[in-house]
Amino acid sequence: MSASLATVAYIGAAILFILSLGGLSNPETSRRGNLLGMVGMALAVLATVLGPRVSSAGLAWIIAALVIGGGVGLYAAKVVKMTQMPELVALMHSLVGLAACLVGFASYVDTSMPLQGVEKTIHEVEIYVGILIGAITFSGSLIAFGKLSGKIGGKPLLLPARHWLNLVGLLVVIWFGRAFVNAHDVQSGMAPLIIMTVIALLFGVHMVMAIGGADMPVVVSMLNSYSGWAAAATGFMLSNDLLIVTGALVGSSGAILSYIMCNAMNRNFISVIAGGFGSGGGAPAKKGDAAEPQGEVVPVSSQETAEMLRESKNVVIVPGYGMAVAQAQHTVFEITQTLREMGVNVRFAIHPVAGRMPGHMNVLLAEAKVPYDIVMEMDEINEDFPDTDVAIVIGANDIVNPSALEDPSSPIAGMPVLEVWKARHSIVMKRSMASGYAGVDNPLFYKENNRMLFGDAKKMLDEVLAALRA
Ligand code: TAP
Repeated sequence: MSASLATVAYIGAAILFILSLGGLSNPETSRRGNLLGMVGMALAVLATVLGPRVSSAGLAWIIAALVIGGGVGLYAAKVVKMTQMPELVALMHSLVGLAACLVGFASYVDTSMPLQGVEKTIHEVEIYVGILIGAITFSGSLIAFGKLSGKIGGKPLLLPARHWLNLVGLLVVIWFGRAFVNAHDVQSGMAPLIIMTVIALLFGVHMVMAIGGADMPVVVSMLNSYSGWAAAATGFMLSNDLLIVTGALVGSSGAILSYIMCNAMNRNFISVIAGGFGSGGGAPAKKGDAAEPQGEVVPVSSQETAEMLRESKNVVIVPGYGMAVAQAQHTVFEITQTLREMGVNVRFAIHPVAGRMPGHMNVLLAEAKVPYDIVMEMDEINEDFPDTDVAIVIGANDIVNPSALEDPSSPIAGMPVLEVWKARHSIVMKRSMASGYAGVDNPLFYKENNRMLFGDAKKMLDEVLAALRA
């Protein structure tokens, strides 16, 4: 492929990526968005592999790497459960960071194209910054993976004078950056580069270790943004325009998503990054980790639940992580259909951080073919709870916890929540009294107008559906 054809293909791929992002902004166009992204990526890979910068001798290596990488990717896509997606995403971000580091070191030791003067300095700055971002992304994402999968505790590690430690680290990195750019040859430049890499790796570990479990959603999207900037830096090192554009798209969209999530959780972005939030048990709930129950609850049967739903005019369904675990979305859809046929107005209330990844509930409901026009965002529906007969909470906990609004000492204080307790009745469907991700007790369970439907969400919803149809 000639250089000009490769450039045209790159421009085409960049346009497809932008259209893809546009498509992903709405559930109705998200399939098309995904498809455009896939076509763009295929075009980008083909234009790079068949482009003028790859020799035929290198082609065999690239094809072997594509087959191995593609095989691992296919296998992971098949075996990873939807609820493990955030862990997988964190692991993938770490690979982008590692790639940026490796490309950085490879470009530094590659002396086949000797550069002089300003060009040399610019190239070295690209390498230094690329490895810096890559190393932070790599180690930070690995720790995020450990925290999300429960291999590392969710409690923030707050070292004394940690902000000073970070500041000193930054100054040392700048100092060695100067030494690196002033180095006369590869041998003398290697020591500052390696020292900076070690500091960046430690910084990545320290940064994510200091963040409490409750703020992990923001961290994942922030690392997504970092991985984009790492890719853009790699694009600069390799003089690959498409990689620069793609990296910038990922970097900026990840930063915007982090900002939106911070708003949704009423967190200040800087204080999340500075760490320490969610310290009061912000770890993902483990067995035996649940906060002590604080009162009496009133259980309800699936038959009674069906009766309450049948007699309602307005029903709001609040799905959460438990619906994903139980894979209950299809039964939820069937119940919705049945109730709608009975003339009941059914709507869904989606909290921005319900589940374990951005858009988790929207994806599941779309998969079950729930119409988009009855799926409401938190801001759209929160005011409607007082006019709701029954709010049914399916495997959700933290996102409907009134203590976020009522108890300033709660680890989730300040996080906006779905105010289901304002409905005439609320029914919470879960297996036990265990706490949710943030590990805090939920006063909703003990409210007078609340009922608990204990059991696996899929099993209980099947029973409710059968009772509704009887
Ligand atoms: P959680 O607060 O984690 O509560 C989920 C509840 O589902 C649990 O209390 C659990 O209770 C129940 N459950 C689990 N399996 C179930 C099953 N098979 N059937 C019925 N119930 C089941 O979830 P949420 O309300 O969706 O809130 C999300 C939390 O995750 C927030 O704290 C958020 O900050 C955090 N988080 C979100 C993200 C993103 S981006 N969305 C990423 C990481 C963390 P039982 O064990 O008693 O059944």
